[in-house]
Parts: sequence; structure tokens; C-alpha cells
Amino acid sequence: MAGKKESDGGWRKFLWNSEKREFLGRTGGSWLKIFLFYVIFYGCLAAIFIGTIQALLLTIDEFKPTHQDRVAPPGLSHTPRSDKSEITFNVKDADSYKKYIASMKEFLEKYDDNKQLENNNYDDCNDLPQTYVDRGKLDKEGVKRSCRFLRSNLQNCSGVKDDTFGFSKGQPCLIVKLNRIVNFRPKPPTNKTALPDALKGKTFENYIPIHCKNKRDEDEGKIGEIKYFGLGGLAGFPLQYYPYYGKRLHPDYLQPLVAIQFTNLTLDEELRIECKVYGDNIDYNEKDRYQGRFDVKFTVTSKS
Ligand SMILES: *[C@@H]1O[C@H](CO)[C@@H](O)[C@H](O)[C@H]1NC(C)=O
Ligand SMILES: *[C@@H]1O[C@H](CO)[C@@H](O)[C@H](O)[C@H]1NC(C)=O
Ligand SMILES: *[C@@H]1O[C@H](CO)[C@@H](O)[C@H](O)[C@H]1NC(C)=O
Repeated sequence: MAGKKESDGGWRKFLWNSEKREFLGRTGGSWLKIFLFYVIFYGCLAAIFIGTIQALLLTIDEFKPTHQDRVAPPGLSHTPRSDKSEITFNVKDADSYKKYIASMKEFLEKYDDNKQLENNNYDDCNDLPQTYVDRGKLDKEGVKRSCRFLRSNLQNCSGVKDDTFGFSKGQPCLIVKLNRIVNFRPKPPTNKTALPDALKGKTFENYIPIHCKNKRDEDEGKIGEIKYFGLGGLAGFPLQYYPYYGKRLHPDYLQPLVAIQFTNLTLDEELRIECKVYGDNIDYNEKDRYQGRFDVKFTVTSKS
């Protein structure tokens, strides 16, 4: 009995010891010191945290990315883009390609001729490739004007006359763009030895050529004729659209496009096609399938 009473009292004494005036084994002064210690401790931690972020923010230029090594050279992307880069459809079944044409329509909306004619932030930058357009420094405030790129440049792949983008005829189009990189000026190729045979005899005045061919040797001769629709009817990206000044200074910027139409693909076979852009400062990377190139698998059937 006595033992139990003692232990009971021990617990109560620990909670509040009236002799020593201690709460949970500490006096009020001791608790106050601990409280102060933690206030200061966490205060310093917060100060270090905020200070580091502020210091980092000071080093960031609002207009120009500080570290650009990751983004240059540019990626090449295409629409429609699909799972595993496979485009499979049946010419006679509109449902089989409706998702492809829907994504192309959506992508081309901002290239509508009307949108660019109504907005007076656009310049006409010639119908043929020209050299770079310098719009001043990157660090100045003020919105830069942009070059128009009308979807009518894409002719048979513009979706204007044929709103199935060739899919209903078994002649599908792809729309291709070079990804945006602030302050990047792509350079046309000067080293002809690196070019594919089809481009070797050509000169590329003020544009970055694009060329597609069969990826696998066994598909040789099965790809058929490929047509390219770009500015001035050329198969490439014109230089007057560069450099790009970034989202803030260049809000209405439009990337130049090239549409590629496969007009005579062999039916009922899986065909792998690789498209590549060529330029002195355009590189390819084994690990990045979209750097300066892409490949796509087409399977077109026509059985009903
Ligand atoms: C565009 O399509 C029309 C109609 O299908 C065709 O006659 C013409 O040859 C095509 N133009 C080009 C440049 O392929
Ligand atoms: C041109 O390209 C080829 C093949 O990629 C390379 O071997 C050669 O060194 C290049 N020449 C120059 C002048 O860069
Ligand atoms: C399409 O390709 C086939 C061979 O695959 C060829 O015989 C035919 O002439 C080509 N058609 C056109 C219009 O080029």
C-alpha cells in the first residue's frame, strides 16, 4: 500500500513539484530559457534559408537564362506526337486518325493568318529566308515585335483545303519545329561532308535544312516521295525568326514551321523514318532522341 502511494505521489510530483516549484522537472526560469533558445535557433535557421534564396535570386537575370548548357543545341519536335512515336492509321477509317488531326489543328491555331493580321505586334519578315533579325539587347525592357508565320506557308499541309492533313488520302503530314532557345542563332551547314547525299549539291542561304529518310536500310525505296512545305517552299527553318528573346520580351513569338508530307508510303508495313536538321551549331546526342532529329514509325493500312 505504502509503495503504491509513493509511486503515485512520484508521478504527481514530477508533473508539479510544489516544494521546488518545478513543472515537469523544470522551473519556470528553465522553461523560459529553453523557449528562448528554440525561438533564436529557428529564427536563425529561417534567416539562413531566406538569405540563401535571396542571394540566388540576385544572380538570376530576368531576361537571359544564367545556365544555358542544358538547352542548346535545340530539340526537334513534331506534331502529331504519339505514344512511342508510332503513327498507325487506316485510310478508310476516320476514327483511326482523328486524334492526329485534332492535335495538328490545335497546334496550328496560333498560326492562323487572321490572328497575326489582327495583332499589330507582328512584322512581315519577307516570304523568303533572310538573315537574323536583331531586335536589340536581351536586358532591355519593352516587348519585341515578332515575325509573322502564316499557316498558309504549309500549303497542302496547312489544313486549309484538306482538313485531314492528307491522312484521308494515305499521304500524312507532320509539322515540325525547332524548340525555342533564348538568344540562339542556328547556323546553316558549311561542312558539306556531313550532309546526306540528297542535300550535298545544295546551298542553304539563310535557312537550316531539314531532311527525312528511311531509318533502316531494309526500308529503302518504300518511303516514297517526301514533300516539304516551309517558308518560300523551302525545306528548312529561315533565320529571320532568330534570335528568340524569351517569353517576357517576345510574347507573340512564333517558331517557323516546316510541314513534311509523305506522299507515297508503302501500305501495310511498318516504316521507320528519321528526320534531321543540319547546321554548324546543331548537334545530335545518342541519349537524346529529339536533339536535332527525331524518328517516327508509320503504319498505313487501307483495308476496309
Ligand atoms: C497539293 O494538293 C493538290 C491536290 O491534292 C495536288 O494537285 C498538288 O499537286 C499538291 N501540291 C503539291 C506541291 O504537292
Ligand atoms: C566535316 O565533317 C566530317 C564528318 O562529320 C568531319 O570528319 C570533318 O572533320 C568535318 N570538317 C570540318 C572542316 O569541320
Ligand atoms: C509510289 O511508289 C511505288 C513503289 O512503291 C511506285 O511504283 C509508284 O510509281 C509511286 N507513285 C508515285 C506517284 O510516285
